[in-house]
Amino acid sequence: MNYKDIYILGIETSCDETAASVSCNGSILSNVVATQIVHSPYGGVVPELASRMHERSIVSVTHQAIHQANIQKNDITAISFTQGPGLLGSLLVGTCFAKGFAQALHIPLIAVDHMKAHIFAHYIDAPAPEYPFLCLTVSGGHTQIVLVNSFTDIKVIGKTLDDAVGEAFDKAAKIMDIPYPGGPLIDKYAQSGDKNRYRFPIAHIPDYDYSFSGVKTALLYFLRDNTATNADFIKNNIHDICASYQHTLIQTLLLKLKKASKDLGINRIAIAGGVAANSYLRAQLLICANEHWEIFIPKLEYCTDNAAMIAHTGYMMYLNNQFADLKTVAKAVM
Ligand code: KG4
Ligand code: ZN
Repeated sequence: MNYKDIYILGIETSCDETAASVSCNGSILSNVVATQIVHSPYGGVVPELASRMHERSIVSVTHQAIHQANIQKNDITAISFTQGPGLLGSLLVGTCFAKGFAQALHIPLIAVDHMKAHIFAHYIDAPAPEYPFLCLTVSGGHTQIVLVNSFTDIKVIGKTLDDAVGEAFDKAAKIMDIPYPGGPLIDKYAQSGDKNRYRFPIAHIPDYDYSFSGVKTALLYFLRDNTATNADFIKNNIHDICASYQHTLIQTLLLKLKKASKDLGINRIAIAGGVAANSYLRAQLLICANEHWEIFIPKLEYCTDNAAMIAHTGYMMYLNNQFADLKTVAKAVM
C-alpha cells in the first residue's frame, strides 16, 4: 500500500440489493452484491422486508468487500454511500451504517446520487465516453435521457411521466405469472420469440419524455381477451408475447433517444441502469452504432444495482472535494 493511495468503501442499499465495494485510486478491488430473493413470491419489492434484509446483511457484505480487496478497515480513506433516490427504509440502513462507520474510523463521508452513479459507472473501465454524451438511464424506478456535459454538469432532458421501463417489464411479468424481477426472464423468453407477431401501442408524448403505463394496460387487456377463449394462451405463446412486448418497449426508448441525439447533435450515446442489461436493447444499439452512433454499454455487473458504481462515483466526488457531514439524511427522492 502506498501512503498516497485513496481507498473508497462504497455502500449501496437503495432497493433490494445490499452491496459494498472497495476501490483504490478509482480501480475496483471488490464488488459484493447480496440480492434479496425474499421478494420473489410477492411479484415486487416489499419495502419493510427490504429494510430488514439490509440490516441483516450490511455488516457481512461490507466485511466481505474489505476482505476481498485485501485491505484492513483502517486503510479506508473515505466512505461513499447511496443517499437516494430509493426506498426510504432501505436507504436509511446504508446511510446510518456509513455514517457510523465513517465516524468510528474518523474518515470523510460522501453522499452519492444513485442515478448519477449509474451514469458514472461508465468511467470504471475503459473506454469511457468523452463529454458531452447522452445517457439513457433505465432502471426499475427511473427512465431518463440525461445530457452529461461534465461530472458536475448533468441535465435530465427527458423522463417518464408515469411508470419506469423496468416497472413496465416487471409488471408485465407479474401479469404473466413470471417471477420477480421479470425483466431478465422476459428478455430470455423473447430471445426465441417472434417480435412482429403481436402489436402493442407506443405512447406519443411531447419532447423527450416517456410514458409506459398505456402499453402495460394494453398488454393486460390483450391477455385478458385472449385467455377468455384459450386458457393456455399465455403458456403457448409466451416467447412471442415477450418478444413483441419487449420490442415495443425498446422501440419506444430508442425513438426519443434518436430524437434527442438528432436535435442536440450528440452522437456519443451511453446506457445505464438495470434495463441496460437487456440483450435486445444492447443489440439494437449496436445496429445504431454501425450507422452513426458511438455507443457505450457498461459491463452487466455495473448495469444492475451494485456498489462499485457508488465507490467509483465516491472517488470522483472525493477528488472534487464533495463531502457530506453527519447531518446528511437519506432522500427517497433526490
Ligand atoms: O438499476 P436496477 O438494478 O435497480 C433500480 O435502481 O431500480 O434496475 C432493476 C430493473 C428491474 O426492473 C429489472 O427487471 C430490470 O432492471 N432488468 C432488466 C434486465 N435485467 C434487469 N430488464 C430487462 N431486461 C433485462 N435483462
Ligand atoms: Zn439502480
